[in-house]
Amino acid sequence: MNQTIIVTGGAGFIGTNFVLAWAKQGLGTVVNLDKLTYAGNLENLVELQHNPQHIFVHGDIGDQVLLARLLAEHQPCAVVNFAAESHVDRSIHGPEDFIQTNVVGTFHLLESVRAYWGKLNEVDKKAFRFLHVSTDEVYGSLGKDDAAFTETHAYAPNSPYSASKAASDHLVRAYHHTYGLPTLTTNCSNNYGPHHFPEKLIPLVIHNALAGKPLPIYGTGQQIRDWLYVEDHCAAIRRVLEVGKVGEVYNVGGWNEKPNIEVVKILCRMLDAKKPRADGKPYADQITFVEDRLGHDQRYAIDATKIARELGWKPQETFETGIEKTVNWYLENQDWVNNITSGDYRHWVEKHYVERGEELA
Ligand code: NAD
Ligand code: TYD
Repeated sequence: MNQTIIVTGGAGFIGTNFVLAWAKQGLGTVVNLDKLTYAGNLENLVELQHNPQHIFVHGDIGDQVLLARLLAEHQPCAVVNFAAESHVDRSIHGPEDFIQTNVVGTFHLLESVRAYWGKLNEVDKKAFRFLHVSTDEVYGSLGKDDAAFTETHAYAPNSPYSASKAASDHLVRAYHHTYGLPTLTTNCSNNYGPHHFPEKLIPLVIHNALAGKPLPIYGTGQQIRDWLYVEDHCAAIRRVLEVGKVGEVYNVGGWNEKPNIEVVKILCRMLDAKKPRADGKPYADQITFVEDRLGHDQRYAIDATKIARELGWKPQETFETGIEKTVNWYLENQDWVNNITSGDYRHWVEKHYVERGEELA
């Protein structure tokens, strides 16, 4: 066993940021296994094209033959599992892929890893880690005065997405409890930052604002999310991998709750200052309230005390600094956005928003 790690889903939003930071810090070889669904984008990884410490493999976490080969060949000291279907609205339109990848795929991945881990010598066995990247959405929805989610909060997932992630978390827990697999699980709040696919609120609003399209707010816009800059999430994962206690769960969050409408207004003001509309009017004029999401969770909030106290992690960015970096990145990377927002993306926008009576396509 060496310092190589296998990362799954490393061509998606958070996985990309994780792999880029890992390479930048020279932490060792990464074997990046990704199925390249609509959300996976090799363009995210161009800067690693000639880096011998990044090995991209096109494949599915559910492919146990492929996994057995990769594990035997690369002898990783850890597997970090980002691969998932991740968009709540897509899970409402079509839950099947979420069950296949998030539940069945994670199960097959765990089986492959268990077989590999079982054959390691005692020292390597002890050092090995399987880190499962999960979400705060598994805990369900909070009322406005409820305490934030701790690691012992009962699971109560409400969407097909969060239910599938909850199922995968339970499988990971069971593989530790039953087989002794050295697992770690992180449950993180909403991320934002570079390389975020423009189907999610923050990149969608930036993209639509600049394109002169409506900024769709579901329902009243009073739903609350807890936002964390993606690089802070990646730093938390590295910390958990390094010093997290085997079998434990760590909640990761930004201590930064905001109603959706406030997030959108902040983005509008920032764009007004950085890239004013040609007609001089505020981007906020483009805000449009649309039909609410089915089963829309009211509030998520993470209590990240455990990871701060036990592992010494805390976010480096405030929402103000993180969102500024994010807006700058999108303004500087319009080609990236333009390449994504063709083809399949248009199809999704049409299906999801035009049904809501909005001319967004
Ligand atoms: P994403 O949708 O941007 O990326 C997912 C990646 O996984 C894509 O590159 C996709 O091609 C790949 N993938 C999908 N199915 C696969 C399969 N069967 N085999 C191999 N690769 C596959 O998602 P993200 O936002 O980067 O989220 C990554 C992980 O973090 C997910 O597990 C998600 O549940 C979790 N998470 C996300 C957030 C967030 O705000 N985005 C917050 C907390 C936790
Ligand atoms: P999203 O970015 O999809 O993340 P999640 O559903 O995992 O929290 O959505 C964030 C919040 O923004 C959520 O409450 C739904 C809302 N939202 C809108 O109001 N309009 C939109 O077009 C989208 C995509 C999301």
